[in-house]
Amino acid sequence: MKKLTLLAAIIGLGLSANLSAKEDQSSIIERIKPYGSVCVQGKECAVKVPVAAGAPAPGAAPRSGEQIYTAVCAGCHGAGVMGAPKYGTADWAPRKAKGKATLYEHAIKGFNSMPAKGGCAACSDEEIKNGVDYMVQ
Ligand code: HEC
Repeated sequence: MKKLTLLAAIIGLGLSANLSAKEDQSSIIERIKPYGSVCVQGKECAVKVPVAAGAPAPGAAPRSGEQIYTAVCAGCHGAGVMGAPKYGTADWAPRKAKGKATLYEHAIKGFNSMPAKGGCAACSDEEIKNGVDYMVQ
């Protein structure tokens, strides 16, 4: 019993020592903050996620082809990753010959190494079509 009391006293001392330590509150907040944070496109965001192709705000107008291209497609179509037809090059000539309907379908559903919607599940079909129009123009 005496041992227990002693133990409690030691723990109590430790706790009060901890509490009395003058730690700046902001450093505590910094330490316990969540690991990740969510960014909403179009809003100020502290942490910039490189591929920030999230869902548009509810009721927001569909994003333009340029916005979609920059946010989602450029990662591959800018440099021609995995044989992706490069934006602004003759790579697109044989693709255009397939017709827009096919290109839309392949962009939305995927085609070989081209992932469905370029990997942007939150993008609407219309936005993906805008992205295709932008690259094919
Ligand atoms: C992860 C890389 C990657 C991303 C991101 C990506 N693409 Fe692609 N895309 C490819 C590759 C690779 C091909 C070539 C596939 C093939 O011809 O086998 C391709 C081909 C295409 C084609 C031609 C399909 C055809 O039938 O010839 C279209 C259209 C297309 N992408 C649209 C898009 C759009 C729009 C986006 C953005 C929303 C996008 N891609 C994002 C890799 C990507």
